[in-house]
Amino acid sequence: MIDELKKEIEGARRSFIHELESIQSPEQLAALKERCLSRKKGVVSQFLARLKGFVPAEKPLAGGAINQFKEFVETALAEAERTRGAAVAAKGEWLDPSLPASELPVGRFHLIADIQRQIEDIFLQLGYEIAAGPEVEREEYNFSKLNFPEHHPARDEQDTFFLEGHDDLLLRTHTSPMQVRYMLEHKPPLKIISPGKAFRKDDPDATHSPCFHQVEGLLVDRGIHFSHLKGTLEAFCRSFFGPDIVLRFRPGYFPFTEPSAEVDISCFMCGGDKADCRVCKGTGWLEILGSGMVHPQVLRNCGIDPEEYSGFAFGMGIERVAMLKYGVPDLRLLYENDLRLLGQFG
Ligand code: DAH
Repeated sequence: MIDELKKEIEGARRSFIHELESIQSPEQLAALKERCLSRKKGVVSQFLARLKGFVPAEKPLAGGAINQFKEFVETALAEAERTRGAAVAAKGEWLDPSLPASELPVGRFHLIADIQRQIEDIFLQLGYEIAAGPEVEREEYNFSKLNFPEHHPARDEQDTFFLEGHDDLLLRTHTSPMQVRYMLEHKPPLKIISPGKAFRKDDPDATHSPCFHQVEGLLVDRGIHFSHLKGTLEAFCRSFFGPDIVLRFRPGYFPFTEPSAEVDISCFMCGGDKADCRVCKGTGWLEILGSGMVHPQVLRNCGIDPEEYSGFAFGMGIERVAMLKYGVPDLRLLYENDLRLLGQFG
Protein backbone atom coordinates (compact mmCIF):
# COMPACT_ATOMS: atom_id res chain seq x y z
CA MET A 1 0.00 0.00 0.00
CA ILE A 2 2.81 2.38 0.82
CA ASP A 3 4.57 1.54 -2.44
CA GLU A 4 1.45 2.29 -4.37
CA LEU A 5 1.16 5.68 -2.69
CA LYS A 6 4.78 6.50 -3.42
CA LYS A 7 4.29 5.62 -7.07
CA GLU A 8 1.26 7.87 -7.28
CA ILE A 9 3.13 10.69 -5.61
CA GLU A 10 5.96 10.32 -8.09
CA GLY A 11 3.43 10.47 -10.92
CA ALA A 12 1.87 13.59 -9.42
CA ARG A 13 5.31 15.15 -9.06
CA ARG A 14 6.13 14.56 -12.70
CA SER A 15 2.91 15.96 -14.03
CA PHE A 16 3.31 18.95 -11.68
CA ILE A 17 6.77 19.66 -13.11
CA HIS A 18 5.44 19.26 -16.62
CA GLU A 19 2.56 21.65 -15.99
CA LEU A 20 4.78 24.18 -14.28
CA GLU A 21 7.09 24.27 -17.26
CA SER A 22 4.32 25.01 -19.67
CA ILE A 23 2.78 27.83 -17.66
CA GLN A 24 2.08 30.91 -19.84
CA SER A 25 0.31 33.36 -17.62
CA PRO A 26 -0.25 34.32 -14.02
CA GLU A 27 -3.76 32.89 -14.23
CA GLN A 28 -2.35 29.49 -15.20
CA LEU A 29 0.16 29.66 -12.38
CA ALA A 30 -2.61 30.49 -9.90
CA ALA A 31 -4.74 27.66 -11.25
CA LEU A 32 -1.90 25.15 -10.86
CA LYS A 33 -1.37 26.31 -7.31
CA GLU A 34 -5.07 25.86 -6.61
CA ARG A 35 -5.05 22.37 -8.14
CA CYS A 36 -2.10 21.29 -6.00
CA LEU A 37 -2.58 23.06 -2.72
CA SER A 38 -6.22 23.94 -2.27
CA ARG A 39 -7.40 22.64 1.08
CA LYS A 40 -10.48 20.84 -0.14
CA LYS A 41 -9.67 19.30 -3.45
CA GLY A 42 -5.99 19.91 -3.92
CA VAL A 43 -3.75 17.02 -4.91
CA VAL A 44 -1.85 17.26 -1.64
CA SER A 45 -5.04 17.28 0.43
CA GLN A 46 -6.31 14.23 -1.41
CA PHE A 47 -3.14 12.35 -0.56
CA LEU A 48 -3.42 13.44 3.06
CA ALA A 49 -7.03 12.25 3.22
CA ARG A 50 -5.84 8.74 2.44
CA LEU A 51 -3.58 8.67 5.52
CA LYS A 52 -6.44 7.34 7.65
CA GLY A 53 -6.39 4.09 5.67
CA PHE A 54 -2.81 3.24 6.60
CA VAL A 55 -1.88 0.89 9.42
CA PRO A 56 -0.11 2.68 12.29
CA ALA A 57 3.29 1.25 11.32
CA GLU A 58 3.08 2.72 7.81
CA LYS A 59 1.50 6.06 8.71
CA PRO A 60 4.73 7.95 9.42
CA LEU A 61 6.28 6.78 6.15
CA ALA A 62 3.21 7.69 4.15
CA GLY A 63 2.92 11.06 5.95
CA GLY A 64 6.60 11.76 5.32
CA ALA A 65 6.31 11.04 1.60
CA ILE A 66 3.24 13.29 1.25
CA ASN A 67 4.89 16.11 3.19
CA GLN A 68 7.98 15.90 1.06
CA PHE A 69 5.83 16.23 -2.04
CA LYS A 70 3.95 19.12 -0.50
CA GLU A 71 7.16 20.98 0.32
CA PHE A 72 8.49 20.35 -3.16
CA VAL A 73 5.35 21.78 -4.74
CA GLU A 74 5.29 24.79 -2.41
CA THR A 75 8.93 25.65 -3.01
CA ALA A 76 8.65 25.25 -6.79
CA LEU A 77 5.52 27.40 -6.90
CA ALA A 78 7.06 30.10 -4.73
CA GLU A 79 10.14 30.16 -6.90
CA ALA A 80 8.02 30.37 -10.05
CA GLU A 81 6.01 33.22 -8.59
CA ARG A 82 9.17 35.04 -7.68
CA THR A 83 11.10 34.56 -10.89
CA ARG A 84 8.16 35.07 -13.17
CA GLY A 85 7.14 38.22 -11.44
CA ALA A 86 4.72 37.27 -8.73
CA ALA A 87 4.26 40.86 -7.70
CA VAL A 88 3.33 41.77 -11.22
CA ALA A 89 1.47 38.51 -11.70
CA ALA A 90 -0.72 39.26 -8.71
CA LYS A 91 -1.91 42.39 -10.50
CA GLY A 92 -2.72 40.33 -13.56
CA GLU A 93 0.32 41.27 -15.62
CA TRP A 94 3.03 38.92 -16.67
CA LEU A 95 6.61 40.00 -16.24
CA ASP A 96 8.27 41.14 -19.44
CA PRO A 97 12.03 40.96 -18.80
CA SER A 98 12.76 42.96 -21.93
CA LEU A 99 11.15 46.08 -20.49
CA PRO A 100 13.47 48.79 -19.09
CA ALA A 101 13.75 48.85 -15.30
CA SER A 102 11.47 51.24 -13.48
CA GLU A 103 13.09 54.53 -12.55
CA LEU A 104 14.61 54.78 -9.08
CA PRO A 105 13.63 57.95 -7.22
CA VAL A 106 16.72 60.05 -6.54
CA GLY A 107 16.90 61.82 -3.19
CA ARG A 108 18.07 65.36 -2.75
CA PHE A 109 18.64 67.85 0.00
CA HIS A 110 15.66 69.52 1.63
CA LEU A 111 15.37 73.14 0.60
CA ILE A 112 16.49 74.36 4.04
CA ALA A 113 19.55 72.09 4.08
CA ASP A 114 20.31 73.12 0.52
CA ILE A 115 20.21 76.85 1.31
CA GLN A 116 22.28 76.24 4.44
CA ARG A 117 24.93 74.55 2.32
CA GLN A 118 24.95 77.36 -0.22
CA ILE A 119 25.50 79.88 2.58
CA GLU A 120 28.21 77.71 4.14
CA ASP A 121 30.01 77.36 0.81
CA ILE A 122 30.23 81.11 0.32
CA PHE A 123 31.61 81.73 3.82
CA LEU A 124 34.03 78.82 3.56
CA GLN A 125 35.41 80.52 0.46
CA LEU A 126 35.82 83.69 2.52
CA GLY A 127 37.92 81.72 5.01
CA TYR A 128 35.32 81.16 7.73
CA GLU A 129 35.06 78.00 9.78
CA ILE A 130 31.80 76.26 10.59
CA ALA A 131 31.12 75.87 14.32
CA ALA A 132 28.00 73.99 15.38
CA GLY A 133 26.50 74.38 18.84
CA PRO A 134 23.86 72.73 21.05
CA GLU A 135 20.15 73.42 20.64
CA VAL A 136 19.58 73.09 24.39
CA GLU A 137 21.48 76.09 25.67
CA ARG A 138 22.36 77.72 28.96
CA GLU A 139 20.31 80.77 29.79
CA GLU A 140 23.60 82.51 30.49
CA TYR A 141 24.92 81.99 26.96
CA ASN A 142 21.63 82.64 25.20
CA PHE A 143 20.94 85.89 27.11
CA SER A 144 23.19 87.09 29.97
CA LYS A 145 26.58 86.99 28.31
CA LEU A 146 25.03 88.48 25.19
CA ASN A 147 24.19 91.54 27.24
CA PHE A 148 20.42 90.99 27.43
CA PRO A 149 19.22 93.00 30.44
CA GLU A 150 17.59 91.06 33.29
CA HIS A 151 14.04 92.01 32.30
CA HIS A 152 14.34 91.84 28.53
CA PRO A 153 11.02 90.56 27.10
CA ALA A 154 12.71 87.75 25.15
CA ARG A 155 13.55 86.11 28.47
CA ASP A 156 9.86 85.74 29.20
CA GLU A 157 8.41 82.24 29.41
CA GLN A 158 5.80 83.37 26.92
CA ASP A 159 8.47 83.70 24.27
CA THR A 160 11.07 81.13 25.18
CA PHE A 161 10.96 77.36 25.77
CA PHE A 162 12.60 76.76 29.16
CA LEU A 163 13.37 73.19 30.19
CA GLU A 164 11.05 71.92 32.91
CA GLY A 165 12.78 71.89 36.26
CA HIS A 166 15.85 73.71 34.87
CA ASP A 167 15.51 77.50 34.98
CA ASP A 168 18.98 77.85 33.56
CA LEU A 169 18.37 75.69 30.45
CA LEU A 170 16.33 76.58 27.39
CA LEU A 171 15.94 75.85 23.69
CA ARG A 172 18.14 78.53 22.18
CA THR A 173 16.11 81.40 20.77
CA HIS A 174 18.80 82.26 18.24
CA THR A 175 22.19 80.97 17.10
CA SER A 176 24.00 83.90 18.73
CA PRO A 177 25.00 81.93 21.89
CA MET A 178 27.49 80.18 19.63
CA GLN A 179 29.40 83.47 19.59
CA VAL A 180 29.79 83.17 23.35
CA ARG A 181 30.78 79.53 23.29
CA TYR A 182 33.36 80.11 20.61
CA MET A 183 34.86 83.22 22.19
CA LEU A 184 35.11 81.47 25.57
CA GLU A 185 37.06 78.62 24.04
CA HIS A 186 39.21 80.34 21.42
CA LYS A 187 41.59 83.26 21.26
CA PRO A 188 41.22 85.82 18.42
CA PRO A 189 41.50 85.99 15.49
CA LEU A 190 38.10 84.28 15.19
CA LYS A 191 36.16 83.82 12.00
CA ILE A 192 33.16 81.50 12.18
CA ILE A 193 29.67 80.91 10.97
CA SER A 194 27.29 78.80 12.99
CA PRO A 195 24.22 77.38 11.28
CA GLY A 196 21.47 75.54 13.13
CA LYS A 197 18.01 75.40 14.63
CA ALA A 198 16.48 77.99 16.93
CA PHE A 199 13.19 77.94 18.83
CA ARG A 200 10.61 80.49 19.90
CA LYS A 201 7.08 80.22 21.22
CA ASP A 202 5.50 81.55 18.04
CA ASP A 203 2.21 80.32 16.61
CA PRO A 204 2.85 78.89 13.17
CA ASP A 205 1.73 81.13 10.30
CA ALA A 206 3.02 82.07 6.86
CA THR A 207 6.14 83.70 8.32
CA HIS A 208 6.53 82.14 11.80
CA SER A 209 7.40 78.71 13.10
CA PRO A 210 8.29 77.62 16.66
CA CYS A 211 11.36 75.92 15.19
CA PHE A 212 13.38 77.62 12.49
CA HIS A 213 16.94 77.89 11.20
CA GLN A 214 19.54 80.63 11.39
CA VAL A 215 23.12 81.20 10.38
CA GLU A 216 25.23 83.22 12.78
CA GLY A 217 28.45 84.90 11.76
CA LEU A 218 31.27 86.22 13.96
CA LEU A 219 34.63 87.76 13.21
CA VAL A 220 36.96 89.10 15.91
CA ASP A 221 40.45 90.45 15.32
CA ARG A 222 42.57 93.56 15.83
CA GLY A 223 41.41 96.68 13.99
CA ILE A 224 38.04 95.35 12.77
CA HIS A 225 35.54 98.09 11.95
CA PHE A 226 32.19 98.61 10.37
CA SER A 227 33.46 98.69 6.80
CA HIS A 228 34.70 95.10 7.22
CA LEU A 229 31.16 94.12 8.12
CA LYS A 230 29.76 95.97 5.12
CA GLY A 231 32.28 94.46 2.73
CA THR A 232 31.71 90.96 4.01
CA LEU A 233 27.93 91.12 3.80
CA GLU A 234 28.12 92.72 0.38
CA ALA A 235 30.37 89.92 -0.86
CA PHE A 236 28.00 87.33 0.58
CA CYS A 237 24.80 88.87 -0.79
CA ARG A 238 26.21 89.39 -4.27
CA SER A 239 27.43 85.84 -4.38
CA PHE A 240 24.16 84.45 -3.07
CA PHE A 241 21.52 86.67 -4.71
CA GLY A 242 23.33 88.08 -7.75
CA PRO A 243 26.20 90.40 -8.70
CA ASP A 244 24.10 93.56 -9.03
CA ILE A 245 22.63 93.45 -5.53
CA VAL A 246 22.90 96.69 -3.54
CA LEU A 247 22.86 96.69 0.28
CA ARG A 248 21.16 99.16 2.59
CA PHE A 249 22.13 99.40 6.26
CA ARG A 250 19.46 100.76 8.58
CA PRO A 251 20.12 101.54 12.25
CA GLY A 252 18.82 98.72 14.45
CA TYR A 253 19.02 97.49 17.98
CA PHE A 254 20.41 94.25 19.39
CA PRO A 255 21.74 94.03 22.95
CA PHE A 256 24.90 92.24 21.81
CA THR A 257 26.02 94.66 19.07
CA GLU A 258 26.82 98.38 19.08
CA PRO A 259 26.16 99.93 16.67
CA SER A 260 23.59 97.51 15.22
CA ALA A 261 22.20 97.47 11.73
CA GLU A 262 19.34 95.80 9.89
CA VAL A 263 20.44 94.93 6.40
CA ASP A 264 18.23 95.12 3.32
CA ILE A 265 19.13 94.05 -0.18
CA SER A 266 17.79 95.61 -3.34
CA CYS A 267 15.05 93.39 -4.77
CA PHE A 268 16.71 90.71 -6.88
CA MET A 269 13.43 90.13 -8.71
CA CYS A 270 12.54 93.60 -9.98
CA GLY A 271 15.58 95.68 -8.98
CA GLY A 272 13.17 98.16 -7.44
CA ASP A 273 11.49 98.99 -10.75
CA LYS A 274 8.12 97.34 -10.36
CA ALA A 275 5.38 98.75 -8.17
CA ASP A 276 3.54 95.41 -8.19
CA CYS A 277 6.56 93.14 -7.59
CA ARG A 278 5.38 90.13 -5.59
CA VAL A 279 8.77 89.69 -3.90
CA CYS A 280 9.42 93.21 -2.53
CA LYS A 281 5.79 94.38 -2.72
CA GLY A 282 6.95 97.39 -4.65
CA THR A 283 9.28 98.72 -1.96
CA GLY A 284 12.42 97.74 -3.87
CA TRP A 285 14.06 96.41 -0.68
CA LEU A 286 14.11 93.11 1.20
CA GLU A 287 15.14 92.83 4.83
CA ILE A 288 17.44 89.85 5.18
CA LEU A 289 19.56 90.01 8.30
CA GLY A 290 20.61 91.65 11.56
CA SER A 291 24.19 92.67 12.23
CA GLY A 292 26.51 94.97 14.10
CA MET A 293 29.83 95.47 15.85
CA VAL A 294 30.21 93.08 18.77
CA HIS A 295 29.37 95.01 21.95
CA PRO A 296 32.52 95.63 24.09
CA GLN A 297 30.69 94.20 27.09
CA VAL A 298 30.05 90.94 25.17
CA LEU A 299 33.75 90.69 24.36
CA ARG A 300 34.56 91.31 28.02
CA ASN A 301 31.97 88.71 29.13
CA CYS A 302 33.78 86.19 26.97
CA GLY A 303 37.30 86.98 28.18
CA ILE A 304 38.38 89.15 25.22
CA ASP A 305 39.84 92.63 25.82
CA PRO A 306 37.79 95.18 23.82
CA GLU A 307 40.72 97.63 23.97
CA GLU A 308 42.76 95.21 21.92
CA TYR A 309 40.16 93.48 19.79
CA SER A 310 36.97 94.35 17.97
CA GLY A 311 34.63 92.35 15.81
CA PHE A 312 31.41 92.14 13.89
CA ALA A 313 28.53 89.69 13.97
CA PHE A 314 25.47 88.97 11.90
CA GLY A 315 22.55 86.58 11.91
CA MET A 316 20.08 85.59 9.23
CA GLY A 317 17.08 83.32 8.98
CA ILE A 318 17.55 80.45 6.55
CA GLU A 319 13.82 80.00 5.91
CA ARG A 320 13.44 83.66 5.10
CA VAL A 321 16.33 83.59 2.66
CA ALA A 322 15.02 80.36 1.09
CA MET A 323 11.54 81.80 0.70
CA LEU A 324 12.89 84.94 -0.91
CA LYS A 325 15.29 83.20 -3.23
CA TYR A 326 12.82 80.57 -4.44
CA GLY A 327 9.55 82.46 -4.10
CA VAL A 328 8.02 80.15 -1.49
CA PRO A 329 4.95 82.02 -0.24
CA ASP A 330 4.32 80.23 3.07
CA LEU A 331 6.90 79.09 5.62
CA ARG A 332 4.79 76.06 6.57
CA LEU A 333 5.29 74.61 3.09
CA LEU A 334 8.91 74.01 4.07
CA TYR A 335 7.87 71.67 6.88
CA GLU A 336 5.08 69.69 5.26
CA ASN A 337 7.49 67.50 3.31
CA ASP A 338 5.31 67.43 0.25
CA LEU A 339 7.53 65.90 -2.41
CA ARG A 340 5.77 67.88 -5.14
CA LEU A 341 7.21 71.03 -3.54
CA LEU A 342 10.56 69.66 -2.38
CA GLY A 343 11.20 67.96 -5.74
CA GLN A 344 11.39 71.37 -7.41
CA PHE A 345 14.51 72.39 -5.48
CA GLY A 346 17.91 71.14 -4.54
N1 DAH B 1 20.21 86.93 17.00
C1 DAH B 1 19.45 87.87 16.19
C2 DAH B 1 18.02 87.36 16.06
O1 DAH B 1 17.78 86.22 16.27
C3 DAH B 1 20.07 88.03 14.86
C4 DAH B 1 21.36 88.76 14.95
C5 DAH B 1 21.37 90.13 14.89
C6 DAH B 1 22.54 88.10 15.09
C7 DAH B 1 22.53 90.84 14.97
C8 DAH B 1 23.74 88.80 15.20
C9 DAH B 1 23.71 90.18 15.13
O2 DAH B 1 24.89 88.20 15.34
O3 DAH B 1 24.87 90.85 15.19
O4 DAH B 1 17.16 88.12 15.70
